[in-house]
Amino acid sequence: MRTPNSSSWCFGYRLWILALSVTLVLLGAISRSSHNVFSGYGNKNQLSMRAPLKGNGNPPIFAYWICGTKGESEKILRLLKAIYHPRNHYLLQLDSGSSDYDRGQLALSIQSERVFQSFGNVYVVGKSSALNQMGSSALAATLNAAALLLKLSADWDWFITLSASDYPLMNQDDLLHAFTSLPRNTNFIHFTNKTGWKEHMDRIVDDPSLYLQHVAPLLYIVENRTMPDAFKIFGGSPWTILTRDFIDYCVKGWDNFPRKLLMYLSNVPFPLESYFHTIICSSPEFQNSLVNNDLRYIIWDTNALGEAQVLNVSHYDQMLASGAAFARPFRADGDPVLNKIDESVLNRTSGGLVPGEWCPGIGRSKSLENPAAGQEELCPSWGNINHVTPGPRGVSLREFLPKLAVEGRFKNSHCQEQ
Ligand SMILES: *[C@@H]1O[C@H](CO)[C@@H](O)[C@H](O)[C@H]1NC(C)=O
Ligand SMILES: *[C@@H]1O[C@H](CO)[C@@H](O)[C@H](O)[C@H]1NC(C)=O
Ligand SMILES: *[C@@H]1O[C@H](CO)[C@@H](O)[C@H](O)[C@H]1NC(C)=O
Ligand SMILES: *[C@@H]1O[C@H](CO)[C@@H](O)[C@H](O)[C@H]1NC(C)=O
Repeated sequence: MRTPNSSSWCFGYRLWILALSVTLVLLGAISRSSHNVFSGYGNKNQLSMRAPLKGNGNPPIFAYWICGTKGESEKILRLLKAIYHPRNHYLLQLDSGSSDYDRGQLALSIQSERVFQSFGNVYVVGKSSALNQMGSSALAATLNAAALLLKLSADWDWFITLSASDYPLMNQDDLLHAFTSLPRNTNFIHFTNKTGWKEHMDRIVDDPSLYLQHVAPLLYIVENRTMPDAFKIFGGSPWTILTRDFIDYCVKGWDNFPRKLLMYLSNVPFPLESYFHTIICSSPEFQNSLVNNDLRYIIWDTNALGEAQVLNVSHYDQMLASGAAFARPFRADGDPVLNKIDESVLNRTSGGLVPGEWCPGIGRSKSLENPAAGQEELCPSWGNINHVTPGPRGVSLREFLPKLAVEGRFKNSHCQEQ
């Protein structure tokens, strides 16, 4: 005799256990991160005065994810200071190459700065996870970061992915200014026109970082498979700037395509180089929101792996002439060219934040007050966080972006050519 009831009960029960444990893990990640991190949530009145104004010509809000590995805490902190603005949100993550101690220290460095604490907009992911940039674990981590940021804040407009090897080529006043008048549904995804990237799409790989505690190289399966015919694959730069709506669409999965594609790509090498590209080209509601540019300065080598060249001072002029907002990658221990960018582009003193209207005192307190003070505040007092004063780089990016956006709307050839 069949016993459908008991087996379905059993199945249902197991599902329930699974759902419960997933919920616990997720809450764990968030509560650990916010617990790890500080918080400026103490005084509600003060906090609301510090909440950024939106709409009506006010600048947008960016949600940054900065990911790094063992030994990169200092670089992450330096990058954070170079791109800090109280309007934005910053999610910092150290992968499983780092210890819990390293994560704790990073959270402590954030907690010990009054400005980060007061605005409560810097978060450290408390959980350890293995992440292989070439594999699906990197895509999983990106989507996880996006989901955490969706949960942490309801007000951001764009999600920007960075690594510890990235550095800005303009300050946040410039970038916020440039994005102010841009339609909030504009996605920045760079498509490659090189043939060759598709060659690895028929390979089958296994990314052990999905199920091991530590990063391990991809395993290539000997057999190949046929290319999909239910959808067309597109590809390009893994670095993107994506709108909140598009992230919502990818993360929540009420349309099944983002989820199906995610599962297909879990066995494909370099899935981050095609996930967002393929979704946006396959979704009529987002296709016309596309700008074929990642706003990064990256020199892709023409070798088989298409790795990026490490940048140094010899690239400085080209880098700035490109008009890009960020450049990557820089040497692991911080190339001297970063000091040059700090000095000539960001006007940032060593260890300090970038001056802007939100904090008029930056840089001045150093000379006026006791210069011996090592515990000097990053920002002694704040000004207007809803107003930005761009420099020439911000002004020219603001002129350039709408042209790109219009081009993207009228000829989304990048979705047809490949
Ligand atoms: C790819 O695009 C670049 C810049 O737009 C162009 O210079 C190059 O000729 C293109 N290559 C191919 C193979 O179409
Ligand atoms: C699978 O594809 C790779 C690269 O495209 C090729 O070198 C290899 O010979 C293929 N293997 C089989 C079994 O077809
Ligand atoms: C900078 O990089 C270029 C090309 O990658 C290399 O040829 C050059 O030697 C490097 N210069 C320094 C100072 O490291
Ligand atoms: C650099 O910052 C200082 C202190 O905020 C300011 O006085 C100075 O005008 C800035 N220099 C430039 C070139 O923006």
